[in-house]
Amino acid sequence: MTSADSTPLHPRPIRSFVLREGRLTVAQERAFRELWSRFGVEWTPGKVLDWTTLFEHAQPVTVEIGFGNGESLAAMAAAAPERNWLGIEVHRPGIGHVLLEIERLGLRNLRVLRHDAVAVLSEGIAPASVAAVQLFFPDPWPKRRHHKRRILSPQLVAVLAQVLESGGIFHAATDWEPYAAQMLETLDAAALWFENTAGAGHFAPRPSSRPLTRFEQRGERLGHPVRDVIFRRRLVQVTG
Ligand SMILES: C[S@@+](CC[C@H](N)C(=O)[O-])C[C@H]1O[C@@H](n2cnc3c(N)ncnc32)[C@H](O)[C@@H]1O
Repeated sequence: MTSADSTPLHPRPIRSFVLREGRLTVAQERAFRELWSRFGVEWTPGKVLDWTTLFEHAQPVTVEIGFGNGESLAAMAAAAPERNWLGIEVHRPGIGHVLLEIERLGLRNLRVLRHDAVAVLSEGIAPASVAAVQLFFPDPWPKRRHHKRRILSPQLVAVLAQVLESGGIFHAATDWEPYAAQMLETLDAAALWFENTAGAGHFAPRPSSRPLTRFEQRGERLGHPVRDVIFRRRLVQVTG
């Protein structure tokens, strides 16, 4: 619908992704048929997710934004059964792939949700209810006119500050140097909410807990240096 001067009444939000449907393999088709009802999360915009109904055990939750094919996410969830993991991705073949990984590894602590992660974090997660958020190799949107599509923005940082509990960790990695610099600058500027674990102005050493992701391997092949930023949520003031 448009107004009389044809300005859209509900302008489309600027998204950090372009939906490429891609073909599902036969195995991924089966994963959606047989595994989605067990490991997929149905979410209605505006509805807050309830960790206690989503996961078998009440334990710290890590959310991963844009897990791609999910192999590194599944490996992390397998290595840390004492945590719950929620992966948010929009790309169907990647989701199909991670469903197969969940089945193959027998994981009980990883669930996946198909939606724009920005909307889920903004409207679907209770304040201070997440122990960690990770964002590995987000689309770099290298062209200047596309920079507004980069998912790591002051708006996202405000949303992260809302969902992370006191002491909660936000961890991002990228192989695109200008984006790495932007991440550091944006998060360092939010010093009221976040403390840079490496000290203001510094990248963090690559933690061994982060498995090599598919896009990281690609970056390495291209000779791109990989940068990690790890920020800790400062004490959350509960008011009212
Ligand atoms: C460059 S890939 C990196 C994938 C993976 N993290 C890795 O390192 O191999 C970025 C991924 O983020 C997903 N993505 C981008 N914006 C998203 C959003 N707003 N919500 C959920 N997923 C998103 C894309 O679909 C894509 O799979």
